[in-house]
Amino acid sequence: MAVPVVDAGYLNEIEKVRRDLRALISYKNCAPIMLRLAWHDAGTYDFHTQTGGPDGSIRNEKELMHGANNGLKIAIDLCETVKAKHPKITFADLYQLAGVVAVEVTGGPTIKFVPGRKDSIDSPEEGRLPDARQGSGHLRDVFYRMGLSDKDIVALSGGHTLGRAHPERSGFDGAWTSDPLKFDNSYYVELLKEESEGLLKLPTDKALIQDPTFRSFVEVYAKDEDVFFKDYGESHKKLSELGFKPSHCYNTILAQSAVGVGVAAAIVVFSYLFEVNRRVN
Ligand code: HEM
Repeated sequence: MAVPVVDAGYLNEIEKVRRDLRALISYKNCAPIMLRLAWHDAGTYDFHTQTGGPDGSIRNEKELMHGANNGLKIAIDLCETVKAKHPKITFADLYQLAGVVAVEVTGGPTIKFVPGRKDSIDSPEEGRLPDARQGSGHLRDVFYRMGLSDKDIVALSGGHTLGRAHPERSGFDGAWTSDPLKFDNSYYVELLKEESEGLLKLPTDKALIQDPTFRSFVEVYAKDEDVFFKDYGESHKKLSELGFKPSHCYNTILAQSAVGVGVAAAIVVFSYLFEVNRRVN
């Protein structure tokens, strides 16, 4: 396990990586596959054994060969170009930051990114990611194992507002929405339409409108994009931090900058009062 030291230098590097990812993702139009990469690295987490999760292990040949990960070599290779420029950043942070930036550059909510994930060379056994041919019971088994909730399941499924399925990768074909490069709530709007002019609905997508608890969230998100963005942002952050505890150094830097902001604000207020007082006298 490579443990990153999250000091001011690391945070500075993270901001450079963020800028490079923005440029790369916009230029290559690869937001969907970057989001899928981040989710597949994180989505293997097992809450009970505390194994899997966002630890960069998806880059290991063995895990990358798992059926669910078909096609993700493209995203791994794209990330390699950024990693080569910023070797200090862990793969785990790089993949999760790519997911956050993918949502942002396509118009989705801003997701707070906390760095410091360790890389692992140990891959979990195959079969931890969801199987699109199954129903609501299977979705609950998989997401509860990660420690996530029904609301997380429905909010995160909204990630299918981006991208499409490829027959040679998953056996499914087509996009979920009419603009697969725009992050919005149209996934839910399309789900509730009886006919969506040939747009894709996986069996697991259909489960979201057949199960009454899931459906209640779908209806809210289809009606109110602000609620969807808020819930999606929270669920995505949780997914990207499964099994991860921010380092002590990061919290110290945050506390120091909060103290710094506080001191600066006090100086501004003090100078203003001093000036007012001087003029009055
Ligand atoms: C709920 C269970 C889920 C199932 C069963 C599922 C299944 C699938 C399948 C079968 C594909 C097509 C892959 C291909 O042929 O290229 C796909 C693509 C995709 N998935 Fe999911 N997914 C799930 C959850 C998620 C979540 C939680 C996210 C992100 C938050 C996500 C993001 C994506 C994206 C962005 C694509 C498009 C990739 C591309 O265009 O290359 N999925 N998913």
